[in-house]
Amino acid sequence: MQDRYEAALNRIAGKYRKTAEKAAEAGILPYQSAKGEWIASPYDGNSWWTGGFWPGLMWQLWVLTEDGFFRQEACRAEKLLTEEFRSYRLLNHDVGFMYLLSCGADAKLTGNQQAETDLLHAASLLMGRFNPTGFIRAWNEPERTGFAIIDCMMNLALLYRASRDTQDPRFRLVAKAHADTTLREFLREDGSVSHIIEFDPETGKRIREHAGQGYALGTQWSRGQAWGLYGFALAYRHLGEKRYLEAAKKIAGNFVSRIRPDGLTDCDFCQPAGEERIDNIAGAIAASGLQELAAITGEENWKHHAGKLADGLLEHCADWGENRCGILTHCTASYHDDGAGRHTNIVYGDYFLVEALMKLCGRDPELWS
Ligand code: GLY
Repeated sequence: MQDRYEAALNRIAGKYRKTAEKAAEAGILPYQSAKGEWIASPYDGNSWWTGGFWPGLMWQLWVLTEDGFFRQEACRAEKLLTEEFRSYRLLNHDVGFMYLLSCGADAKLTGNQQAETDLLHAASLLMGRFNPTGFIRAWNEPERTGFAIIDCMMNLALLYRASRDTQDPRFRLVAKAHADTTLREFLREDGSVSHIIEFDPETGKRIREHAGQGYALGTQWSRGQAWGLYGFALAYRHLGEKRYLEAAKKIAGNFVSRIRPDGLTDCDFCQPAGEERIDNIAGAIAASGLQELAAITGEENWKHHAGKLADGLLEHCADWGENRCGILTHCTASYHDDGAGRHTNIVYGDYFLVEALMKLCGRDPELWS
């Protein structure tokens, strides 16, 4: 089994060794690929929330192959991202995704002190978004002052890391306050999670749930389920409170019951029957998050489901074509917004596929810790 995953990783590294140079030549941070080219984000340039996945992918491939090209490409991307600190107004709760997988990975894997400083800068920006009524504010629009989203459970990893590196509990305590609010307000009885909850920013009182990137209000956007599953597993690893583990297991139980027979993942678990909208990014994130859960509980069944997801992705949706850039097909950014990509290759799908395969092969560099 492991041989198959090792072989897939080597094949991915081989393809990226050829195609990633195109991104360097174009001087861009790739968001997706199409027609043999890497394409930058259609929104907010290098401040778009996905920017960290390209360097994160390069660091994973560097750990795998020790090929200096991947390290050099990760550092090129990291520089583009740290320049975004100057834009400030475009940065939001997703600085965890952006800087943990770039500066955080660099500092962790190479000991680069400037990268560590930049990581702490990003963590301070995330702290600065904390509303003392109990949540980290999501986006920046004035009408969204009280919005919090499930995705942010992953960004908390930046705060756990900052607390550990500085020996200062503030970052961890803010993460804990946000995790507790998420646990109380997002987790539903059936083990699914909401995407967006709006709070009164003055009192912290819940106002309403909003429909997000899934099919409709109250449905189950699969990527949100994957963020919740992985995010609560990480919360347990770093905060040690049993309630986070129970939440992760509950979300995982719901997720694995929804995996399609072919191992792929629908974009929304409540989407109309017969509507073919797949989001393989959700499956790849869950394949990695389930292994986090297996590692912290010692329960092998989660790893079995992770393998089922990875197998489905490799068997049905891995693009090995020489004339195309990325690997994972059928990635969908948002149920109703095809502009951000529908059934196409998107870089963070490749990132989580590689991370999941690295875990399956026992080679995980633990970039979220
Ligand atoms: N964090 C936004 C998304 O998953 O699309």
